[in-house]
Amino acid sequence: MREKVLVLDFGSQYTQLIARRTRELGVYSEIKPYNTATDEIKKDPPGAIILSGGPSSVWEDGSPRVDGEILSLGIPVLGICYGLQVLVFQLGGEVERSEKREYGPAVLNLVTEDLLFSGVEKTSGVWMSHGDRVLRVPEGFTAIADTENTECAAVRNAGGNIYGVQFHPEVVHTEFGARMLSNFLFQVAGLGGNWTAGSFIEHSIHDIRERVGNGKIICGLSGGVDSSVAAALINEAVGRRLYCIFVDTGCMRLDEAQEVCDAFSEFEMNFIHVDASERFLSHLEGVEDPETKRKIMGEQFVRVFEEEAEKISDVRFLAQGTLYPDVIESVSVKGPSAVIKSHHNVGGLPEKMNLEIVEPLRELFKDEVRNVGKALELPSSLIGRHPFPGPGLAIRIMGEVTRERLSILRHADSIFIDELKKSGAYDEIWQAFCVFIPVKTVGVMGDERTYENVCALRAVSSTDGMTADWSKISYDLLGKISVRIINEVKGINRVVYDISTKPPGTIEWQ
Ligand code: XMP
Repeated sequence: MREKVLVLDFGSQYTQLIARRTRELGVYSEIKPYNTATDEIKKDPPGAIILSGGPSSVWEDGSPRVDGEILSLGIPVLGICYGLQVLVFQLGGEVERSEKREYGPAVLNLVTEDLLFSGVEKTSGVWMSHGDRVLRVPEGFTAIADTENTECAAVRNAGGNIYGVQFHPEVVHTEFGARMLSNFLFQVAGLGGNWTAGSFIEHSIHDIRERVGNGKIICGLSGGVDSSVAAALINEAVGRRLYCIFVDTGCMRLDEAQEVCDAFSEFEMNFIHVDASERFLSHLEGVEDPETKRKIMGEQFVRVFEEEAEKISDVRFLAQGTLYPDVIESVSVKGPSAVIKSHHNVGGLPEKMNLEIVEPLRELFKDEVRNVGKALELPSSLIGRHPFPGPGLAIRIMGEVTRERLSILRHADSIFIDELKKSGAYDEIWQAFCVFIPVKTVGVMGDERTYENVCALRAVSSTDGMTADWSKISYDLLGKISVRIINEVKGINRVVYDISTKPPGTIEWQ
């Protein structure tokens, strides 16, 4: 059975980080809501449980509690921040209510030797973010570290399998945080730490074969990293029973369709390339409204996909490149959010097509997907790619999408990306692209007056696309990109740089 750590989420902004850190240490981790029932946990028992922090106070009415039985299963538990407080409170210790938050660095002082602190210096920097604090430990517990503000900065039970820390070991500002997590996983919980891209691939191939049997699978390939890795993985598992459908919407970047076809021609697989650009572009004719464009792209995509799928008989499964951040059942996610943009991806297909969904990457984060892609020997040009939206350049052209505008945007975009790659900045940036703004401004080129369109450069840093900051590209590089675009791209005579963050902006302009 695969070894794993269960992270019970009390709503902390750092919950995903805890899961990330344990995976970086080679132990597979899953996030579940704090109120996950013990019976469910027992079905697939984890090797250790971590209780995350959270914004609540144990004194608030209805504040979250852990199912007490979990603490008596004999599974090692580590409570972090609110996770510590809830442990202490539920086990009969005392938690002091405080309106004042302690936020930022503190000095941790070890008061006794402990497995959790093996290799940790007697005093070290930790990161705090809490209001309430532990005044008295429950019976059978000992305080094993303190800070100036609290005598119970870390506690442990007599059995040595339940721990709690007030600070956040998962953040980089906690000097020995990774060491403490590693001590908890390997020394306290005795885990092995053999979760790697290779072991993931092995498990997945086995699971996909079991699930799919002799059935056929179709997979929508966009050329992006997620669907490419999913396809390559399933191809390893079922070979010719996988049919990959790549729909060229006519709104791809320069040479993109060819690059995708080339990358996949290396694999022995059923690769179906549908050039549907005429169809997409004719449906987009005269359309200016962003939501209408998205709807049209989404609908045509489904149509083309269905038509192709019908040509393959007896298909039972549909593969998707869904990732872990999309599926986490987290209390941090409060209800359905407002529709800002109707995203189009192959997610719209299943209800209509009545197929069973196969999502081999639903346990992974983006960089883990990239590691799996590397292990599957996908070309690095495909693996390191920035995300690209399903509707493609159609939502990066403000107003109507025309062939001429597409061609201008493709050209400008290729210069931007080329310069970012040459300077080494590309891999540091989450996503970069050009936006076509059909606003004419006056310029002068040589002795000629020009009256052309504006091109906006957009480059952001982000971890999951949910929030983003604009990338601090050097002025020199921005200058070089601007000069090249204005000189080389007919139809653009002005380049601007977008310095909006998300929120309140979004990454794409439409
Ligand atoms: P926004 O613009 O919402 O984008 O801040 C967040 C991330 O999602 C990508 N994006 C899409 N991806 N279909 C997709 O597959 C879409 O319709 C779509 N719209 C935006 C965007 O490129 C960014 O990475």
